[in-house]
Amino acid sequence: MAPSRSSIGWSRLSAVIAALALPWTATLAAAEKSAGDYFVHSLPGAPEGPLVKMHAGHIEVTPENNGNLFFWHFQNKHIANKQRTVIWLNGGPGCSSEDGALMEIGPYRLKDDKTLVYNDGAWNEFANVMFVDNPVGTGYSYVDTNAYVHELDEMAEQFVTFLEKWYALFPEYEHDDIYIAGESYAGQHIPYIAKHILARNKLPATKHKWNLMGLLIGNGWISPPEQYDSYLEFAYQKGLVQKGSDIANKLEVQQRICQKQLAVSKSAVDNPDCERILQNLLDLTAVRVKDNQRECYNMYDIRLKDVFPSCGMNWPPDLTNVAPYLRRKDVVEALHVNPNKATGWVECNGQVGSNFHPVKSKPSIDLLPDILSEVPIMLFSGSEDLICNHLGTEALISNMAWNGGRGFEVSPGTWAPRRDWTFEGEAAGFWQDARNLTYVVFYNSSHMVPFDHPRRTRDMLDRFMGVDISSIGGKPTDSRLDGEKGPETTVGGTAGNGTADQEAEKAKLSAAKWQAYRRSGEIVLAVVIVAAAVWGYFIWRERRKRLGYQGLAGGENGAGSGGRMGANSSSSERLGGFRNPLAAVGGGRGRGRDVEAGDFDETQLDSLHVRSPVEAQKDVRYSLGEESDDAEEEEEEDGGRGKGKEKGAGKAGGSS
Ligand SMILES: *[C@@H]1O[C@H](CO)[C@@H](O)[C@H](O)[C@H]1NC(C)=O
Ligand SMILES: *[C@@H]1O[C@H](CO)[C@@H](O)[C@H](O)[C@H]1NC(C)=O
Ligand SMILES: *[C@@H]1O[C@H](CO)[C@@H](O)[C@H](O)[C@H]1NC(C)=O
Repeated sequence: MAPSRSSIGWSRLSAVIAALALPWTATLAAAEKSAGDYFVHSLPGAPEGPLVKMHAGHIEVTPENNGNLFFWHFQNKHIANKQRTVIWLNGGPGCSSEDGALMEIGPYRLKDDKTLVYNDGAWNEFANVMFVDNPVGTGYSYVDTNAYVHELDEMAEQFVTFLEKWYALFPEYEHDDIYIAGESYAGQHIPYIAKHILARNKLPATKHKWNLMGLLIGNGWISPPEQYDSYLEFAYQKGLVQKGSDIANKLEVQQRICQKQLAVSKSAVDNPDCERILQNLLDLTAVRVKDNQRECYNMYDIRLKDVFPSCGMNWPPDLTNVAPYLRRKDVVEALHVNPNKATGWVECNGQVGSNFHPVKSKPSIDLLPDILSEVPIMLFSGSEDLICNHLGTEALISNMAWNGGRGFEVSPGTWAPRRDWTFEGEAAGFWQDARNLTYVVFYNSSHMVPFDHPRRTRDMLDRFMGVDISSIGGKPTDSRLDGEKGPETTVGGTAGNGTADQEAEKAKLSAAKWQAYRRSGEIVLAVVIVAAAVWGYFIWRERRKRLGYQGLAGGENGAGSGGRMGANSSSSERLGGFRNPLAAVGGGRGRGRDVEAGDFDETQLDSLHVRSPVEAQKDVRYSLGEESDDAEEEEEEDGGRGKGKEKGAGKAGGSS
C-alpha cells in the first residue's frame, strides 16, 4: 500500500541523511577549535616589524568542572640541528606563567604598561617556547571554584591531558625534543609532570611517545628538610643575622620546632611550623624607617629591601606594568582568553594556592633519582635568593643518591669540580655535573634568574639542549667553563635563515601548487554542485510527499537524537555541565557555568593574591597598590585572611 511503501522510503532516506549528517556533527563537536583559532594575529604594543609567530588560548582538561588551562606558545626563530620545545612553568602554587613570558624568558618585555620591547636573551631563539598557567585556576586558566587541584599527581594528570589535546591541535610539534623548565614551586610540578609523561610513554596504547629530553629547575622548591634548614645558614653567610644574637637564638628555637615536625612528617611538601622560620626571619630583621613603616629584606633578592610586610611581593618592578597590561581588553582578546574566564588576570591566585594542600604527595625529591636514570636534569640557582636559596639546593643534591652514586661524589673521595663560568668576560657563576645532573649557580642573581640575566640563561639553556650553531652559522658568544669554550652557542648572533623566512618560502611554494591544482579543482567542484542539487531536489520531493508526517522534520535534528544519548553526547559536552550524570544530581556542580571561576567576585582574588609569609602570620593588611585600595575590597580581604595563606606565599608568593 501507498502509505507503508512511502514510510519505508522515508526511513531509508532518513538513514541516508543520518549517515551523511552524523560524521558532520561529530566532526563539528570534536573539532570545535582548530589551530587557526588560536593564532595570535596581533599583540597590542608589540614592536615594529614582524610579530613572533604565536598561538594562545584555552584547552579544556576537566569538562565536568570547566577546568581549562591557558597556554601561550611562541615559535622558535631558528631551528638549529633539531626542533625543540621548552614548556615553562612558574610556581606558587597558583602563580601565573605569564611572569615567565613577560618578565623572564619570553620574546618580549614591557617597557611601560603598553609598550613591548624585545628581550635580549629570549629562549625562543632555538626552541619553541610555551607558557602554561598551571594548575587550573592560575593566571588566565580557570575552573569551577569547588574544583581546585589539591595534589601533585592530580595536577600532573591534568597537565598530560592538556598536552594530549594540545598536540592533537598542533601535531607538527609532537616530535620535538621536549624540555620542561620553570622555577620555585614548579620544582614540585616539573618532576611530577615528567613522571607522568615517562609513564605515559611506556603504555602500550601510546601511539606517539613524547621525547622528554630534559628538565630545568631554577631556585626550585624540591626537598623541604634541607631547604627549611638552609634559611638560617644562608642568613648567617650573608650577614642578615649575627650568630649568637637574640634574633639568631629565636630563629634557632623555631628551627628546632621545625626539625621535630619534619622528623614526624618528613614527607610533607610544606609545613607551617617550618615556614615560620622564614616569616620570623623577615620580621625580626625588619627595621623601622618611619613612624608607621618598617623595611625588610626582599626574600627573592636579599640585596634589595621592601616595605614590611611585603618583603619582596612588590618586586620585580615590571610587575606594575604586567598586571594592567594583561587585564587590558585588547590584550585579552588578542590572546583568545575565553570570555568564560570573567575575572581579570592576577599574578598569583590565592584560592589556588590555599587549596593546593598536597598531603598525600611526596616532595618531588623522591622522584628525581628515577627521572635522572632516563632524563638529564639541570638545577640552577640565583645566588641572592633567600626563599629557595642555593645552600638548600646544594644540601639536597649532596643528600640525594642517583645513578649509582651520592651527591656530586664521582668516585670515593673525589667530587665533581665546580667549573668557573665566565660569560662575555664577566664571572657569571659555576657549573658542576655528574651522572645526568647539572647544577649551575648564577652570581649576582635573584630568585628570578632570567629576569636578571636573560642572556646568560639562554646560553645555559642552549648548552644544556646541545644546540650547535655550526649547522646554521653565526657569531659565537664568549662563554667559557674553566676558560674552555666548548660547543659554539650564540645569544643573538645567528646568521642562518629564520624559521619565519623558511615558512614564508614554503607558503609561496604551496601557493604555486594550489594555482596548478585549481583548474582541475574547479571541475570537481562543478560536479559536486550538480550532484548536491540533484540530491537536494530528491529530498525536497520526498518530503513534500510526506507533508502530513511533520514530526519527522523536527526529529531530524532535535528530539530524535536528543532522546538517544549517544549521538549527541558530544554536543552536550560542548554545552558544558550536563555530561556527567552525577553532576546534574550534585546541584551546583551540574550547573557548571554558574559556579566557575569566572563568576566569583574578582576583587577577592585581588586582595588574596599577594601575600608574604609575614602577612599570613601578622594581622597586617597588604595592598598591591593599583587596584585593591578601596574600602570595600579591604573588607573582603579581612574576610579572606588567615585561610592557609602561609603556604601559598611561602613557596613563591608573588614571584616564583
Ligand atoms: C642519563 O640519561 C640518559 C638519557 O638521556 C640515559 O640513557 C642514561 O642511562 C642516563 N645515565 C645514567 C648514568 O643513568
Ligand atoms: C658578581 O659576583 C661576583 C662573584 O660573587 C663578584 O666578584 C662581582 O663583583 C659581582 N658583580 C657585580 C656587578 O655585582
Ligand atoms: C637564506 O635563504 C636563501 C634562499 O634559501 C639564500 O639565498 C640566502 O643566502 C640565505 N641567507 C642566509 C643568511 O643564509
